[in-house]
Amino acid sequence: DWTPQSFVEETVDGLKEKLGNDKVVLGLSGGVDSSVAAMLLHKAIGKNLYCIFVNNGLLRKNEFTDVLKQYEGMGLNVKGVDASARFLDALAGKSDPEEKRKAIGRVFIEVFDDEATSIQDVKWLAQGTIYPDVIESVSATGGPSATIKSHHNVGGLPDFMKLKIVEPLKSLFKDEVRRVGASMGIDAKLLGRHPFPGPGLAIRILGDLTPEKVRILQEVDAVFIDNLRSWGLYDKVWQAGALLLPVNSVGVMGDERTYEKCVALRAVESTDGMTADWVNLPYEFLQKTSNEIINKVKGVNRVVYDISSKPPATIEWE
Ligand code: XMP
Repeated sequence: DWTPQSFVEETVDGLKEKLGNDKVVLGLSGGVDSSVAAMLLHKAIGKNLYCIFVNNGLLRKNEFTDVLKQYEGMGLNVKGVDASARFLDALAGKSDPEEKRKAIGRVFIEVFDDEATSIQDVKWLAQGTIYPDVIESVSATGGPSATIKSHHNVGGLPDFMKLKIVEPLKSLFKDEVRRVGASMGIDAKLLGRHPFPGPGLAIRILGDLTPEKVRILQEVDAVFIDNLRSWGLYDKVWQAGALLLPVNSVGVMGDERTYEKCVALRAVESTDGMTADWVNLPYEFLQKTSNEIINKVKGVNRVVYDISSKPPATIEWE
């Protein structure tokens, strides 16, 4: 009978045998899969697991620091690499969604390759690939591994991709991954996190990016997500986030007219991201959240709520 406990025992034993004293490198994304894969490997080989967590500058507000601390608290041998400036430089002037994705994928590979190959005698690359990724071959929601997969044909093969691959979650579905994570004592908040796209806020800022736009969207998103949590709605939603639209609209403040940014909020119910329904959030929640965003976030004077389902709309706007 499959139980999370028996899976952990068998997998850890198997990893010990397979890896011996070898060093393994793994890219953490802050998501469930890479975190659970890291914990399993940590149990098996301890400090010989080298985790790398890259800040691409496109994460949620405070996410890099918070999640890095959490990883350290789990005892992982993790290095946080703040490469925000490199990503933002590569994105400057780009407004096409696929160009933005490509630039982010390329920089991620460069940064990860530098870090991975600076580990002496590293033999293995670990990935948080789960069973649905194996079938689809491209993860819908994965972080680093998905980025790597969809960009591996750009330029030559980076050195870290010549490493042997170890994928301890390859036979599991998402809910099993969560149960395995819980049985190893991983924090429920980390395990229950919504999926977040690898290119992060870059594809939620429609059109070109500036550091100021990233900051505005981080603030808006933080109000939305914090309110979902405090209203007990976070776990009822499959994925949620805010979008910064390339639209200014007229507003009024005191006697003055303003001409400021418009943001959209999106929350969907789904099981796998392939189809999705917009969530019927309470009007009072929307009212309070909209007021709070407009009062708190300078540069925003209008909030709209996305009531489109997938298909025909997609979850992201880019
Ligand atoms: P769409 O917008 O296609 O999104 O309905 C389905 C799921 O995939 C995520 N998504 C991405 N994840 N890199 C990723 O790692 C991407 O480029 C990307 N684009 C969309 C999206 O957040 C949703 O969960």
